[in-house]
Amino acid sequence: MIEGARILVTGATGRVAFPIARRLAAAGNEVFGAARFSDPAGEERLRGVGVAPLRFELGRDDESTLPDADYVFHAGAALNLPPTEWEWQFEVNVQATARLLRRYADARGFVLCSTGSQYAFQDRPLREDDPPGVHLGPYSVSKTAAEQVVQLLSREQASPCTIIRVFSTYGPEGGTPIDRIERMLAGKEIPLHKDAPNMYTPIHEDDYVALGIRALEVGESPPVVTNYAGSEPVSAEDYLAFAGQMLGVTPRIAYREDAWWPIAADVTRMHEVLGVCKVLWRVGIMQSLAARHPELDLPEVEV
Ligand SMILES: NC(=O)c1ccc[n+]([C@@H]2O[C@H](COP(=O)([O-])OP(=O)(O)OC[C@H]3O[C@@H](n4cnc5c(N)ncnc54)[C@H](OP(=O)(O)O)[C@@H]3O)[C@@H](O)[C@H]2O)c1
Repeated sequence: MIEGARILVTGATGRVAFPIARRLAAAGNEVFGAARFSDPAGEERLRGVGVAPLRFELGRDDESTLPDADYVFHAGAALNLPPTEWEWQFEVNVQATARLLRRYADARGFVLCSTGSQYAFQDRPLREDDPPGVHLGPYSVSKTAAEQVVQLLSREQASPCTIIRVFSTYGPEGGTPIDRIERMLAGKEIPLHKDAPNMYTPIHEDDYVALGIRALEVGESPPVVTNYAGSEPVSAEDYLAFAGQMLGVTPRIAYREDAWWPIAADVTRMHEVLGVCKVLWRVGIMQSLAARHPELDLPEVEV
């Protein structure tokens, strides 16, 4: 575990980075949490866990104004934009990433959060050497491009970097599996891809925090590229059926041609470079629901 270091975490109010920033601060590091604070409550939330909020807009603000740091965990990104805003998405996700890594050329570790959505479809778990594709439109393309600027600058600057391809995260902060379960609780349909079963490898917060921090420590030039996903595959159908049973609700799945195609990771390399996940999905889902919905009377899970 990194201790006594100065660490910049971008996207620090987000689902992935907030718990990582919190853990790094709890371990005695000086942590700067950068974001635009589109929700103003985010600044207080960071301060409350010992992270110094830093108002910084990727794509607009000047990276030379950022504080010195030993490590950078770069999770800030433009997500969920309409395709018409692709130029801004590339500005934030690609060009600002390049400037950030130039600013921190001498850092001891730089992690880029890429995505499992940058792979082309394969009817099997996705490996790091599989080709890119366009899972989620310009967002996926921008992440592939961001990987390439990190590849280039890491080599040119001899900067130790790690590119983590983030698959579905979940936990008390939410995440796709929890979003789907919450849709079910709200009585809404859950769109899934028509080719059942929809296989995923969701990674629980306890694991993504531990493996995310490990990613800061293992950087190399050229970069280490690894999937960042749960060790235990599960279909969306199975986790919805399980959660439905626990909550006394029947999932209403709508199989659709135009739903996101499922993505599951081959975690062989991740196990070698970052470690193995510990949280079993049934336990993780119940723990996440208990944290988000204290009003629910949830049964104990037997594994
Ligand atoms: N969670 C997943 O399952 C998943 C899956 C695949 C990839 N990823 C990748 O993991 C990273 C984190 O994702 P997440 O799920 O934590 O996303 P998130 O919850 O939407 O958080 C995004 C963060 O980025 C900040 N941000 C957005 N635009 C910004 C800008 N222009 N300048 C500065 N900060 C900006 C947001 O705060 P403000 O709005 O306040 O600025 C927020 O802190 C992203 O790079 C994403 O591509 C996540």
